[in-house]
Amino acid sequence: MANEPEINEEVAAEATPARRDFLWKVGCAALSIAGVEAAASTLRFAKAPVSYGPAQRRMLGDLSRFPPGAPVYVEDAGVFVLRDAKGMRALSATCTHLGCTVRTDRENGGFICPCHGSRYDSEGHVIAGPAPASLPFVRVDQDRRGRLVVDLGAPVEADHHTKVG
Ligand code: FES
Repeated sequence: MANEPEINEEVAAEATPARRDFLWKVGCAALSIAGVEAAASTLRFAKAPVSYGPAQRRMLGDLSRFPPGAPVYVEDAGVFVLRDAKGMRALSATCTHLGCTVRTDRENGGFICPCHGSRYDSEGHVIAGPAPASLPFVRVDQDRRGRLVVDLGAPVEADHHTKVG
């Protein structure tokens, strides 16, 4: 091969360590920069102001709106308010399938979802799919003026009643 350049073995032997040294320094510098950036990101995350999102409490209104018996739907809160001898409860009206609003099933009792036909009994238990889970009960309280307030972010057991006076 007459056109191949001649390789000066001495130059090659000296250049290779210099190149390695250069690449090592560049690699170390890149890792240092990445480390500093990761540390800075962690600090920014740790010091970020905490937000719990919009308030989950909704005013339901005076007790007189909720006589014992049939559930009363409160659209602003997306809950059914149930009142019986033990007190008050609030049942989410958000279908556990894809989030449509369920409505009372006047023919069969309980609740029915208009989107895909899920059915729930009067306690929110699924009796026909595709809903994967029961409707959750959420906490309901009385404020100082006796009005009902629901906390949509506070699920409670189905037998949790709020006594009202
Ligand atoms: S959203 Fe209710 S059944 Fe699909």
